[in-house]
Amino acid sequence: MNKIFGIWCALCLLLILPTSGNTQSPENAQSPENSKLLVAIHYEALCPDSMNFIRRRLYDALNDNNWWSVTDLKLYPFGKAGFYNSSGKTQVYCQHGEDECELNALHACIIETLDIRKAFDLIYCMLRSYSNELDKCSRSMGLDVSKARECKSSRTNAEILEPYGRETLKLELSFVPSIVFENNFKPYGQRSIRNNFERHFCQEYKKKFNITLPTCSAIL
Ligand SMILES: *[C@@H]1O[C@H](CO)[C@@H](O)[C@H](O)[C@H]1NC(C)=O
Ligand SMILES: *[C@@H]1O[C@H](CO)[C@@H](O)[C@H](O)[C@H]1NC(C)=O
Repeated sequence: MNKIFGIWCALCLLLILPTSGNTQSPENAQSPENSKLLVAIHYEALCPDSMNFIRRRLYDALNDNNWWSVTDLKLYPFGKAGFYNSSGKTQVYCQHGEDECELNALHACIIETLDIRKAFDLIYCMLRSYSNELDKCSRSMGLDVSKARECKSSRTNAEILEPYGRETLKLELSFVPSIVFENNFKPYGQRSIRNNFERHFCQEYKKKFNITLPTCSAIL
């Protein structure tokens, strides 16, 4: 009897599980889990235009429109940096000097060791200043960043930045930040994308999924 009950319950669970997976919040109802738009931001830690874009446009766009669930955000803290060889070792230089390499590498370690939403919130906080705000920001957010510190202290900046640089260098950027939807870099569209990020996001989303996201009807 127990055995039969056990089997029946297992069946029960099988029936319940898939349906409970469908209970989604309204903003997800239209957009299933995999309906995410790929958005890559190529930026630099000490670049005023990058700080401005991330702090004043991107952060608000993602949060005010509830777009986190429909965005696959990738951050590349490299910009117009580059690699060179010196005494047999690969080194990295950065547009705003050595301090920026330090911070770019620290951002890379944050991106590598935290989930993207937490990493982005931390980087958003750190970009309010030109100095290293990791201590203050992580403390005020109650975030454990020991893995990011370990990443930063155990490797060279060039090693840490190598995978980011590999992607950014392919684009041959002329302006930082550069924003890339779905790996389709539009060098001449950058000013418009920076200034009208929300409209471009909505257009790209519609193009990819044939869905007008809730807040997009007022924007498009
Ligand atoms: C540095 O040297 C290595 C090994 O010779 C080479 O593969 C790499 O392309 C060089 N990097 C640069 C930036 O010149
Ligand atoms: C896009 O969606 C609209 C309205 O839901 C539908 O009428 C149209 O056929 C769709 N287009 C494509 C290409 O799927």
